[in-house]
Amino acid sequence: MDAIVGLCKRRGFIFQSSEIYGGYNGFFDFGPLGVELKKNLKDAWWEDIVHRRDDIEGLDSSIIMSPKIWEASGHVGGFSDPMVDCKASKMRYRADQLFYAPVVVDNNTLGYVSALEDHAMEADAQAAAEKLKRKKGVQGELAPLALKEYIEADPSEYELIPSPATGEPGSLTPPRDFNLMFETKVGALSDSTAIAYLRPETAQGIFANYKNIVDTGRVKIPFGIAQIGKAFRNEITPRNFIFRSREFEQMEMEYFISPDADWKAMHREWIDWCKNWLSSIGLPESMLGEDVHPQDKLSHYSRGTTDITFQFPFGEQELWGIACRGDFDLSQHQKHSGKSMEIFDESSKSKYIPHVIEPALGVDRLLLAVLTAAYTEDEVGGEKRSLMKFHPRIAPYKVAVLPLLKNKPELVERAKEIYRKIQRKHTAFWDASGAIGRRYRRMDEIGTPWCVTIDFETIEQDGTVTLRDRDTTEQRRLSEEDLLAFLDDQLF
Ligand code: GAP
Repeated sequence: MDAIVGLCKRRGFIFQSSEIYGGYNGFFDFGPLGVELKKNLKDAWWEDIVHRRDDIEGLDSSIIMSPKIWEASGHVGGFSDPMVDCKASKMRYRADQLFYAPVVVDNNTLGYVSALEDHAMEADAQAAAEKLKRKKGVQGELAPLALKEYIEADPSEYELIPSPATGEPGSLTPPRDFNLMFETKVGALSDSTAIAYLRPETAQGIFANYKNIVDTGRVKIPFGIAQIGKAFRNEITPRNFIFRSREFEQMEMEYFISPDADWKAMHREWIDWCKNWLSSIGLPESMLGEDVHPQDKLSHYSRGTTDITFQFPFGEQELWGIACRGDFDLSQHQKHSGKSMEIFDESSKSKYIPHVIEPALGVDRLLLAVLTAAYTEDEVGGEKRSLMKFHPRIAPYKVAVLPLLKNKPELVERAKEIYRKIQRKHTAFWDASGAIGRRYRRMDEIGTPWCVTIDFETIEQDGTVTLRDRDTTEQRRLSEEDLLAFLDDQLF
């Protein structure tokens, strides 16, 4: 993770927000390479889900919508995480990410240990338990630790569980619900009637516009509406770089189906579609998994959710949630707005409120997965190199054009001509300074799949250029015509 975060900063992918003022927790800025990578991810998703399918339409709804939408959707009442405060350190934790266990030796409880959820949590808790046993000077064998979430603790235990910040018990509060929506005020008045929310998901914009699209388009069940846009959540513990932030982008699609459809089969089809799509942009199948939510842990709107997980550097975590929302949202909006959300289904000649399958993906989280999968260290000619093996479709730059020497005008001129031609169709990078080997390494590190070098053979002999492959470092000569055809073929 440190290598990825370091590379992101060094090469201009991602910066901490407001860095000149010491940073702002949970917010990030995307530099020249990050914004290209992010745009390529969004474009690839949009092309594949909207442009290359006949059953899905696009939408771009406003971020701030009537607060009535968030009352109907259940977000005002229930979009919260359990929070616990440490009174001594003023630190705040998510109660479902704070784990604790009694430390037991020969049926005697010596005290409690706590640990924050991460891949080292069990080892940390075990070490703390052994330390406590030593401190108490007790002989005998430690019983295996049974770690539980803080929300499962009995109120009598709150006082006994040590704060992860101080290591001492007595300062943790009972858990309480914390609503994750950011509030803002709309209009000149600043009383309670002016309160509005920054959307915590793009999905509600789709439900709120579903009737508009049904009435103005030519959609037929089953059909989908897709949207890409910002979402905001006042996360209690933003962490793991851009994995969980307070401002992020989502790519969500609501797929409307008949209530009589085999929703379980369609759910499976969408899980497979999403996994195939992730593989198509370069995430290895071996790094993907599935997490089926148990019935008693489903969100208020869901009748079945499966997350596609990814092996992030800090462990296997949710990447893409695929939920079956039934008719929860449309029924709620029908009830709260008084407007009918029914559709007339030509094929069955019946009227109904459709059910929904929702694949919901975070762009930033996907970007972190892509960075993780692409990051590679190897050796070339006895020298260590780090490279980003981005799939060409999403690489920030597709090709770099390099004149062998920058002080030879005839080389530079020819290289510029080729660069301009490539640039008309593909994002290209111009780099004329430094030793050619150093320039190759720079391009490897930012994941540029190909480098084209213009040398004396190009201008004095047969006009061919050298094409170098990032992953194999192999070089071959080809004509300008073949080069352009090669790039068009690879970058469909
Ligand atoms: N409309 C359903 C919905 O929003 P979610 O599981 O809360 O479901 C969907 O979010 C996806 O959005 C997640 O799988 C994740 O990729 C991304 N996401 C959610 N919260 C995030 C956060 N705080 N930071 C970055 N990405 C987030």
